[in-house]
Amino acid sequence: MKVRKAVVPAAGFGTRFLPVTRSVPKVLLPILDTPSVHYIVQEAALAGIVEIIMVISEGQEAISRYFRRMPKLENALRKRGQTELLQRMEAIPDMATIRYVHQMQPLGLGHAVSTARDIVGDEPFAVFLPDDLIWSEKPTIGSMIEVFERVGASVIAVREVPREQVSSLGVIDPEPAGDRLYRIRRMVEKPKPEDAPSNLGIVGRYVLTPQVFDELARGRPGAIGEIQLTDALDAVARSQGAYAYRFPGMHFDVGVPAGLLKASAHVAMQRKDVAPSVREWLRDLAEGRPSR
Ligand code: G1P
Repeated sequence: MKVRKAVVPAAGFGTRFLPVTRSVPKVLLPILDTPSVHYIVQEAALAGIVEIIMVISEGQEAISRYFRRMPKLENALRKRGQTELLQRMEAIPDMATIRYVHQMQPLGLGHAVSTARDIVGDEPFAVFLPDDLIWSEKPTIGSMIEVFERVGASVIAVREVPREQVSSLGVIDPEPAGDRLYRIRRMVEKPKPEDAPSNLGIVGRYVLTPQVFDELARGRPGAIGEIQLTDALDAVARSQGAYAYRFPGMHFDVGVPAGLLKASAHVAMQRKDVAPSVREWLRDLAEGRPSR
């Protein structure tokens, strides 16, 4: 069955980004000039996903405004002859159909995903965590969908991380199963470094079978008292089997200020209009010279 839908959990207070997240949802914070959630929807659309279920909380309506048409702005750009910018703005609402569901209580990532159950229905689906941005030649989720179609079981993105980072991630117990691929024996959320089954940490891209909703419905709180997606997937891995995909490309954790800054610098370096001045400025900064 084709993967046509994706769930994007975007609720949450964004406490690491206070004070700005008092009024701006975390997923709208810019990487240079484009919010992380834009990159997420773009990655999904490039992989053939047509419907996004965005899980939001009260006060985050600005997310839906971002993906709506803006006739006044578009007219103004048209009048000014800013055709290229106009085309880019017109393309945003066309990337995918986005539906919004509200997570009423912050009960954890697993709970957020389960709120999309009725809209996803009985078909495989993708999950994107907007804190994780990946730059690679091919959209990571597209490669994972190809793996999913080949192995016929859930596929989870992983990357090698330093041991000291495992306690903030989900970690898998891997059995090599091919190029960049592992069969998952079990997985654990936020283990102590000494208890971690490997240094392969979960990154926020998943292609899942709908069975995970049954596991989530059991609603057992796990690490840090929250309903964890990792726990439900551990049960899926043990019963149906599941695979991990060690994706190529560059990963940024934009869920923390330093990661957002690094991602912005990375994007700035790709941009002809920005790169020359930023490159020089960064070099000066790194060498302790007064900035210009
Ligand atoms: C979540 C998942 C975790 C995963 C991480 C990746 O944790 O629960 O398994 O490794 O995202 O970003 P969170 O960052 O919400 O604590």
